[in-house]
Amino acid sequence: MRTVIMGSGKGTNCYSLLDAFASGLLNTTEIIGVFSDNPNSGILDIAKGAKIPGLYLGPYDRLNAEKDKTWIDEIKNLNPDLIVLAGFMRVLSKQFIEAFDSRIINLHPSLLPCFRGLNAIKQAWDAGVKITGCTVHWVSPDLDCGEIIAQAPVRVMTSDTLESVTAKVQAAEHMLLPSVVAEISQGMKPCE
Ligand code: GAR
Repeated sequence: MRTVIMGSGKGTNCYSLLDAFASGLLNTTEIIGVFSDNPNSGILDIAKGAKIPGLYLGPYDRLNAEKDKTWIDEIKNLNPDLIVLAGFMRVLSKQFIEAFDSRIINLHPSLLPCFRGLNAIKQAWDAGVKITGCTVHWVSPDLDCGEIIAQAPVRVMTSDTLESVTAKVQAAEHMLLPSVVAEISQGMKPCE
């Protein structure tokens, strides 16, 4: 399964996917490219270190048809079977999603449908929840609303701080995302 990763940030989830690939968990998956809307994103350095093509494609704006098309065309050139949003912080256009036949998944740091959007871990922390976690879902045009594929829970304990909860959610993400990519590579498809 030809897999492209898109991200805006540090890239720790990209790293966990590459690590899973190296250790054989993703043996039917090939990571063929990494794209970012942030020229300083760590994800580009991780791609470089792994000798995978990594490209800054300029800012992504779903309302700018020309920019949207640039992104679609660049990624289409690689002919991917799956796109993984690993910390990609922009909402994709309907055209983008349709261009890839809805075969796009997103990782989100909360137990959706709770705490959609930005700063989800802090939203959960501020709400005082005792269980939070992370979600992988198929991408739809509405923010963090597509069909849920898998989730991992994280317990918030009295001794926790926002920083320790963030670390626990990220550790859960590093396990969850590779396992979902492995499952999709074994034939799971998005619902119609
Ligand atoms: C991850 O925690 C991911 O869930 C979050 O960005 C972080 C990226 O970390 N994504 C979102 O908030 C999307 N709404 P990384 O760059 O270290 O992989």
